[in-house]
Amino acid sequence: MALKISQVIGHRGASAYAPENTLESIHSAADMGAEWVEFDVKLTKDGIPILFHDDTLDRTTNTTGLMADTLYEDVQDLDAGSWFGDSFIGTKIPTLEEALDVLLERGLSANIEIKPCPGREKETAEVVMDALTRCWDEPDRILISSFSHVALETAMDMAPDWHRSLLLEEEWPDNWQDIATHLDVSTINLNGNTVTRDDVEDAIDFGKPVLAYTINDPQKARQLQGWGIDGFFTDEPDTLLSNLIRPVNSNGAAPKPDP
Ligand code: G3P
Ligand code: MG
Repeated sequence: MALKISQVIGHRGASAYAPENTLESIHSAADMGAEWVEFDVKLTKDGIPILFHDDTLDRTTNTTGLMADTLYEDVQDLDAGSWFGDSFIGTKIPTLEEALDVLLERGLSANIEIKPCPGREKETAEVVMDALTRCWDEPDRILISSFSHVALETAMDMAPDWHRSLLLEEEWPDNWQDIATHLDVSTINLNGNTVTRDDVEDAIDFGKPVLAYTINDPQKARQLQGWGIDGFFTDEPDTLLSNLIRPVNSNGAAPKPDP
């Protein structure tokens, strides 16, 4: 079961153009020609998987508080678009299942980032994987990632054949290769804005495709491409789609620089 990841992955949909982690943002990425999107999934207080990034409601809704303290029936009433712009007033926070329906409708593939509220790492992964294995028939079009190793291990235990990614923050654990090997990951996802060329070479040496987040500047993307990065999470899929060197090899990965 080969992973067919593309070079350009819409970050939280196309979050430069529509409010992040909404169906509107996913549609916007598809409209621009993106084949893959990334979005973040966490749980409401009553355990419903929804697309949302922060632990608090403050930045991207019209109210304040913790998502972990908010019931799904109250999440349904939130406005997740007015912070972004008047034309998005009334935009809703989608459930994971609603997002999967849009992926199917638009023929998209997705990197689903498990983004648990603190202390809910195992539970969040269990709910996400339960929904995916019930609702989705093509595991090679899904990549499960998380900064939480507990979440990734839970996902592996529930669905060992589904593709996983290790997300690396600015500081990498000394034993990241051991963690990545244990979790049997299909890609390494790193912060493209802080990574050094040596780091990228180490990641490439691991032998899996390397993806970089979050890159909106085409010059930076081309530099990272020259270092051997295979794909990019971007808020502006249209910009990178029209500025990257196109893949030449059969697995869709970017060409490697000359030695
Ligand atoms: O998965 C790549 C990227 O989304 C990780 O960081 O904070 O944007 O979810 P964040
Ligand atoms: Mg994310």
